[in-house]
Amino acid sequence: MGCQWVSMARETWATRLGFILAAVGSAVGLGNIWRFPWQTAENGGSAFLVVYLGIVLLVGVPGLLGEFVIGRRANKSPVGALRELSGSKRWGFVGAFSVITGLSLLSFYSVVGGWILRYLLESGAAVLGGNPAYFTNPGQYFGGVSAGTDAALFHLLFLGLTGLIVLAGIRKGIELGTKVMMPAVLVLLLALAGWAATQPNAAAGYAFFLRFDPSVITENFFAILGPAAGQALFTLSLGAGTMVTYSSYLGEDRSLPLDGSAIAVLNTSVGVITGLVVFPLLFSQGIDPTATGTGPGALFVGLAGAFSQLPAGTLIATTFFAVVTLAALSSSISMLEIPVAFLVDEYGVSRRAAVLGMAGIVAVTGTVCAFNPGIFSFVAGTLVNILLTTGLVAFLLFVGWVMGRDAIEEFSSGAGSLGRRLGTPWLFAVGVVLPLFLVFTLLTHFGVDTNIGFWPTVGLTVVASVAAFLGLRQPNSVV
Ligand code: TRP
Repeated sequence: MGCQWVSMARETWATRLGFILAAVGSAVGLGNIWRFPWQTAENGGSAFLVVYLGIVLLVGVPGLLGEFVIGRRANKSPVGALRELSGSKRWGFVGAFSVITGLSLLSFYSVVGGWILRYLLESGAAVLGGNPAYFTNPGQYFGGVSAGTDAALFHLLFLGLTGLIVLAGIRKGIELGTKVMMPAVLVLLLALAGWAATQPNAAAGYAFFLRFDPSVITENFFAILGPAAGQALFTLSLGAGTMVTYSSYLGEDRSLPLDGSAIAVLNTSVGVITGLVVFPLLFSQGIDPTATGTGPGALFVGLAGAFSQLPAGTLIATTFFAVVTLAALSSSISMLEIPVAFLVDEYGVSRRAAVLGMAGIVAVTGTVCAFNPGIFSFVAGTLVNILLTTGLVAFLLFVGWVMGRDAIEEFSSGAGSLGRRLGTPWLFAVGVVLPLFLVFTLLTHFGVDTNIGFWPTVGLTVVASVAAFLGLRQPNSVV
C-alpha cells in the first residue's frame, strides 16, 4: 500500500520558525499561565522570579540543548535515539520512560484542558447575552465541574482536539497548528495586559508581582530553589523527551544554542506577561491572590471572581480562556507526540493507529484522574515531578557520558563560533553540574534536607548520582 512508502520517509519541519514555534508551543502552556503566577505569589513574588530566571538560564537552556542534541543526532524518538546512539538496549529502556512520562503528563493535563475548554465555551456563549454561569459563585461552580462526569467529558473533548492535530502529522498538524496558535496567544495576551493596565489599582498588582526584596532571597534561598527548579523544568517541557522528539524532526543544521535561547526567552516572556495580566486584574477587584488559595482551582476561582466584576468581564474572560486553551493545546500535542513517535519509529505503526492507540490509553487514565481528585493531584504533583527530574538527569548523563565528544560536535554544528566556544563548558555543565543540581532539588522537594540536614543531603546527592552513573555505564563509554 502507498502509505507504507510514505511512512518510510520520516517527516521534518518545513521551516526553522516552524520548529521554534512548535517548541515554544510545547513550552508555553498551563505552566506559564496557570502555575507560574501562583508559584510566584506563593514563593515571595519577585524574589522567586529572580531565582527562577537564573535557573532557566543556567539549567533550563543547557538542559534544553541536551535534549536537542540527542534528538537531532539520532533523528529518532527517545527510545530509538538512546538505543542507537549508545548501541545498548539498556539505554532504550531508559528512553522508554519518556513514553510513560508523556502519557502521565497528558492524563492530568487533558483534564485541566477540559476545565478550560468548558470555561471558554461557557464564556463565549455568554458574549451573545447573559452571564457565564460561573460568575454567580465561582468557587462553588468550580467545585461542581472540576471532578466527575462533566470533567471526564470535557477531558475527552480536549483530548480529541489534541489527537486531531497530532493525527495530521508534523507539518500539517503540529507545525501549522502552532504557527497559528502561538502568534494568537502573544497578541491576545499583550492586548489583555494593556487593558489590565487601565484598571483601577493596577499598580498594586505590579507592586505585588515585581517588588524586589533581596532579603527574601537570602533568607529563603533553599526553600525557593526547589519550586523554582521544578517550575523551570516543567515550563520548558524538559525531562519528558518532548524536546528530543521535536528536534528529531530537524532536517538541516541550524544553531541549536540560538534556537534554544529564543525558545527560553519567548517562553519566559509569556509567563511574565501573564503575571502582568493576572495580578493587576485581581488587585483591581480587591482580590488577594494569596487568600484565594493556590490549588488547581486558583485560576478558575480567583480570576473568575475578578472577571465577574469587571466592565466587559464576559468578553475579557472569553479572550483569556481562549489564550489558555490555545496555549494548553499547543502543549498537549507535544505530550501525545512522544508515545506516537515511539510507535511510529520503533514499530512502523501508522500515525493514525498510533494516535488512536495512545489517545485511547489517555482517554482511560485521564478519566480516572477526572473522577478522582486524589489520583489527579498525585499524578500532577509527585509523579510528574519525579518522572521529569529523573528523566532529565538520565538524558543529561547520557549526553555527558555516553555521547561525549559527539555531543559537542552536534552542539557546535550550525552554531558557528558560539558552538566552538561554548561546547566544552556546556558539556561539563550537562554531564556533571546539572545532574547533581537536579538530584539535589529532587531530594529537597521531598524534604530530605529538613530531615537529615543540608550536608548529608549534599552527600546523598553525590552518592545517588554516582550510583546512577555506574548503573548506566556502558562498556564502550568514553570515561
Ligand atoms: N511546558 C508545558 C507547560 O508549561 C507543559 C509541557 C508540555 C510539558 N510538554 C511537556 C512539561 C513535556 C514537561 C514535559 O504547560
